Amino acid sequence: MLRIIVLGAGAGGGFPQWNCNCANCRRARAGDPLAPPRTQSSLAVSADDGAHWYLLNASPDLRQQIAQSPLLHPKVGLRHSPISGVILTNADVDHVAGLLTMREAQPFVIYATPRVLEVLKANAIFNILDSSIVSWQPLTPDRSTKVQAPDGCTSGLNVKAFPLPGKVALWLENPRRPNFGSTAEDTVGLELSSIDGKRFFYLPGCAAMPPHIADRLRGAELVFFDGTTYTDDEMIACRLGNKAASRMGHMSVSGAEGTIASFAPLSGARKIFVHINNSNPILVADSPERKAVEAAGWEVAIDGLEVNL
Ligand code: MLT
Ligand code: MN
Ligand code: ZN
Repeated sequence: MLRIIVLGAGAGGGFPQWNCNCANCRRARAGDPLAPPRTQSSLAVSADDGAHWYLLNASPDLRQQIAQSPLLHPKVGLRHSPISGVILTNADVDHVAGLLTMREAQPFVIYATPRVLEVLKANAIFNILDSSIVSWQPLTPDRSTKVQAPDGCTSGLNVKAFPLPGKVALWLENPRRPNFGSTAEDTVGLELSSIDGKRFFYLPGCAAMPPHIADRLRGAELVFFDGTTYTDDEMIACRLGNKAASRMGHMSVSGAEGTIASFAPLSGARKIFVHINNSNPILVADSPERKAVEAAGWEVAIDGLEVNL
């Protein structure tokens, strides 16, 4: 069995974002029940009925997310956490800053591609994680890995990472290099599975849906997917920024090349949008865009959503 919790359904900045006064963020800030707040992008998964939990990305809001999730609270002794590790999909700030919250001498395991491990280890701030108790493990793309538990137990969880169309983290962009110097290991999707044969996919950042990715997802029971923006130029049109979603390494939900259209052949899966930017109209329950995604068979995640497989 796999137990999954959406710790944060928002994209970088969360919902509402600290400096955003857009109509969506104003509704969330006012406590509108149709616009519930979302913290930043992270899931938790357990394959052993909650004895060990693994974070899929560690968000800047991790402290708040743990406080809101009793399943992740310490259980035994003076120092304990059921959080046994973190599996990263990229090195974006919204996916790695939470590692700094986990600096209180607690053993755990971090999995990421060799490229993402390299850029994080090159950044001295992560030395705050004591390397004698925190183990950094490479996630070789396309190889299934048995996820370790720091106490030597088996977690029952397997993970396979696979490269996605995407972009290097914003803080590492090189404007002089093609696609800002991105490599195949900068952005991956994750396939998580349990020893009893349950599995799901997690792709919080994906810039396109080429046939080899669609083939991989075909027949899946459950997919959490990049819901950053509804339209490619949404942030420009709302005068919130000057970048299209495609420039940031994200597909948009709508449009001929968008996520809903790309997933149409992949019927049967439970499909849930995560990593949703505060500008996206699907965040508010009474928008025509929300009705359109629901009519197309998609769910829009809220924080605390639990799914058992
Ligand atoms: C993204 O999803 O595009 C990034 O999280 C952007 C950022 O680092 O702020
Ligand atoms: Mn992000
Ligand atoms: Zn906003």
